[in-house]
Amino acid sequence: MKRILFAAAAALALAACTKRAEPIKIAEIKEGTYEPAEWGKVYPLEYELWKKTAEKTPAGKSRYKPGWDTDGKIYDKLSEYPYLALLFKGWGFGIEYNEPRGHWHMLTDVLEIDDSRIKAGGVCLTCKTPYAQELQEKHGKDYFSKPFLEVHSWIPKEHQELGAACIHCHDPADMSLRLRNQFTLGKALGHLGVDQSRLSRQEMRSLVCAQCHVTYVVRKDKDMKSEGVFFPWQHGKFGAIRIEDIIKKIKSDPAHLEWTQEVTGFKLGFLRHPEFELFSNASPHWRAGLACADCHMPYTRVGSTKISDHRVMSPLKKDMKACITCHSQGEGWLRERVYQIQDRTASRLIRAGYATAEAAKLFELANKASAGGKKIDKALYDEARENYEQAFYRVVFIGAENSTGFHHPDETLRVLGDAGSYARKAEGLLRQALAKAGVDAPAKTDLELKKYLENRGKKKLGFDRSMEFKDPYAGRESI
Ligand code: HEC
Ligand code: HEC
Ligand code: HEC
Ligand code: HEC
Repeated sequence: MKRILFAAAAALALAACTKRAEPIKIAEIKEGTYEPAEWGKVYPLEYELWKKTAEKTPAGKSRYKPGWDTDGKIYDKLSEYPYLALLFKGWGFGIEYNEPRGHWHMLTDVLEIDDSRIKAGGVCLTCKTPYAQELQEKHGKDYFSKPFLEVHSWIPKEHQELGAACIHCHDPADMSLRLRNQFTLGKALGHLGVDQSRLSRQEMRSLVCAQCHVTYVVRKDKDMKSEGVFFPWQHGKFGAIRIEDIIKKIKSDPAHLEWTQEVTGFKLGFLRHPEFELFSNASPHWRAGLACADCHMPYTRVGSTKISDHRVMSPLKKDMKACITCHSQGEGWLRERVYQIQDRTASRLIRAGYATAEAAKLFELANKASAGGKKIDKALYDEARENYEQAFYRVVFIGAENSTGFHHPDETLRVLGDAGSYARKAEGLLRQALAKAGVDAPAKTDLELKKYLENRGKKKLGFDRSMEFKDPYAGRESI
């Protein structure tokens, strides 16, 4: 352990105090330059690595993030975690919900996804194009509410497929890190009382990612049209935005409930990729002073120069090079440690997910009974619903977080443990309500997963979805 800490301290000191040779600047980049190739004329090494995010990532190096299309398949979360197809039935996420891939593809992947996923409107472009900040400033509320394709057409032609660009993260004058999305992250930092001018370089090395790798709420007006987007961080602190804080904010206003869950009929909020929230909530590596860039953009040697690896991807696919700076135990040991954490996470996640799905099906039964004239005890039903929602948001939080628990292992297990308890509490209360109303509830609930998985609308994707349907629930003894 001493060895790790010493090496880590040394690496951090290096990151914090030593100035690497400043990149040699051979020309000016004008403020407001969106075109990465222009930046690439001045910084060709970073530009070449950045372009590589278009390439397929190496196959067979990651257990839970195999790569979106490394082997010609799309890995999608609904097939990997089938209970999600039941829980998300009722809107786009229940139709198509894919694992991420390289930054190059972020905007084209949205253009190619099932239409149901872009119904929220222009707001979907917020973390997909460097023009979001400018479009929002120019068009105000229309930016959020107008149809996706209309807002997309406001982006200059040559950049209608451009995703994360240099201008998202850098000030062209000196290449220091800068946050572009002030209308989202800038505001959210304001809510946390963070003064942006005082952020450390190390904090910026995480916050540039937090422009997108965070959860957000799309506010809806009375007609369910999008009217804004914000990060639900108001009840948290910088370094401690907990799932409890996020749920409290979502539940504080009906305008935060973005969709209706078909199985239960409940209007609910949603959570997306909360990498920053989970990692920055006092995870071991956050406490040790690390930033996202330390593991996902480690220094790499190109010729005689050392630069940040702009081919952002899983450290497992780069043979753990980022970790070895501080952990001298070697690639195999590190990989095993990551898999151990992820296996535990996946096991708990699947259990909690199925328990939540079971509760959802009991609500369906109770709602049907109620519509058929049975008297369902309201107090029991409402308490069950509250417990169910607590379980639902937790399962979605960890399921949407892209590290399968690695970014914060013990917090992940805490959240999933709570999710399981809430789901079982909901089930118990509902069973009580059903028994009281004289409704027969089977001891084992049929989740009808096949039905949800196979009725996912018409795919307009051009590639073959070679995912075979496999019901992992079959043969499962109990939850
Ligand atoms: C402008 C928004 C944005 C910013 C800024 C951003 N990301 Fe991403 N990131 C995305 C999106 C969107 C995807 C998924 C793209 C897809 O699947 O088409 C993604 C995918 C990824 C992936 C998966 C790559 C793969 O090969 O599967 C990693 C890792 C990642 N981002 C890490 C980071 C880190 C670390 C930072 C900060 C240095 C960062 N991102 C900054 C939006 C962003
Ligand atoms: C998602 C955010 C992000 C994007 C997009 C991005 N960079 Fe960077 N870049 C970083 C981070 C983080 C660092 C490390 C900064 C630090 O440690 O202070 C960095 C560092 C640099 C540096 C300093 C030298 C080095 O390599 O550490 C240069 C030059 C640079 N980037 C150029 C570019 C160019 C050119 C592009 C576009 C082709 C680009 N960057 C896109 C996040 C980004
Ligand atoms: C201590 C190292 C470390 C730090 C710090 C870190 N990550 Fe990760 N990240 C990982 C590992 C390990 C994985 C799991 C990759 C896998 O399973 O292939 C991962 C996975 C991811 C993924 C999914 C990758 C994929 O291929 O789909 C994304 C996105 C991501 N991290 C973003 C971030 C962001 C954003 C931050 C900062 C808020 C961050 N990470 C901080 C190590 C780190
Ligand atoms: C800049 C240094 C640094 C980097 C880079 C780094 N770590 Fe760590 N890591 C630490 C420190 C320091 C701790 C101890 C934190 C603590 O105990 O609070 C730690 C703790 C850990 C632990 C928990 C140790 C245990 O058994 O309790 C694991 C596992 C781990 N790191 C894996 C990784 C992996 C995998 C990567 C690369 C994706 C990585 N680390 C990158 C510094 C680093």
